[in-house]
Amino acid sequence: MRTRWSGPTLVVDTPAKLNLHLSVLGRRPDGYHELETVMVAVGLYDTLLFDEVSRGVELRCDGLRGPMAADESNLVLRAARLLFMTTGCGRGARIHLTKRIPMQAGMGGGSSDAAATLVGLNQFWGLGLSQAELHDHAARLGSDVNFFLDSTPLALCRGRGERVEPRPMCGPFWFVVAKPAAGLSTSAVFGQLDLAHCARSQCSELLDACQSGDVGRTASLLDNDLEMPSRELSTDLSAVLDRLDNSKLLGRRMTGSGSACFGMARNRAQADGAARRLREQGIGDVYVVRTAV
Ligand code: C5P
Repeated sequence: MRTRWSGPTLVVDTPAKLNLHLSVLGRRPDGYHELETVMVAVGLYDTLLFDEVSRGVELRCDGLRGPMAADESNLVLRAARLLFMTTGCGRGARIHLTKRIPMQAGMGGGSSDAAATLVGLNQFWGLGLSQAELHDHAARLGSDVNFFLDSTPLALCRGRGERVEPRPMCGPFWFVVAKPAAGLSTSAVFGQLDLAHCARSQCSELLDACQSGDVGRTASLLDNDLEMPSRELSTDLSAVLDRLDNSKLLGRRMTGSGSACFGMARNRAQADGAARRLREQGIGDVYVVRTAV
């Protein structure tokens, strides 16, 4: 996440994520699932602008295809209201969100926006909250929000996903992301999951491969227990995965609960070539991204 001042406006660019590994370990008494997942931050950014208003929090939201609803379900408003209520801050803010990270894609866009709101308003309102206090708020907002708070390129995340252990990596790694038109709801995918089919595979070898910057080995170790239930819910997703299988990219996987999928490339030139061919096949939105914070 990158923050800068432009006159009186605070500007925050906040990245997307991809899951290189996602193991579902079991169902918890609170209805959530216990996870072990490896996430990388990638350079596809939403942008939030913070401006002063006399009181309250206003949100305007633009997507790639025009204005979007900025209602109570938007995690930005929920994050802002949480800070407003818990700190008793008397100041106001107008937030302008420009969405570039696709939604219902498993790329953490909503969570990243929520984390950017916590970090941005902490700075904009001069709240002086510690990183630990921000993490407490993040965990209340959603499972992936904590990952984005620390601007770490790679992390092993446990629990619901909110317990984040930053890990070293030697990058950059290049990815081609393909997002079919239809998104997938996280709760629907978890609802479709059959725990008996979860591989519960280890991620230590993958973390070693990331640390040594070995793209080929990393690509061969990609894993996601949610891919099977997501495929059952979306034929578009299966089509995208088949196209990625037939591309010259290294290993391919779905990210998070989908519906975006990605393949790894040896370098930018290979990623650009594969993305061009996938776009010609008209399989949805295609992005070339690299690891970035
Ligand atoms: O935490 P978040 O709001 O992103 O999760 C959305 C839904 O996904 C939850 O309501 C739950 O149904 C499911 N989920 C889960 N286990 C997780 C994360 C999410 O079952 N670790």
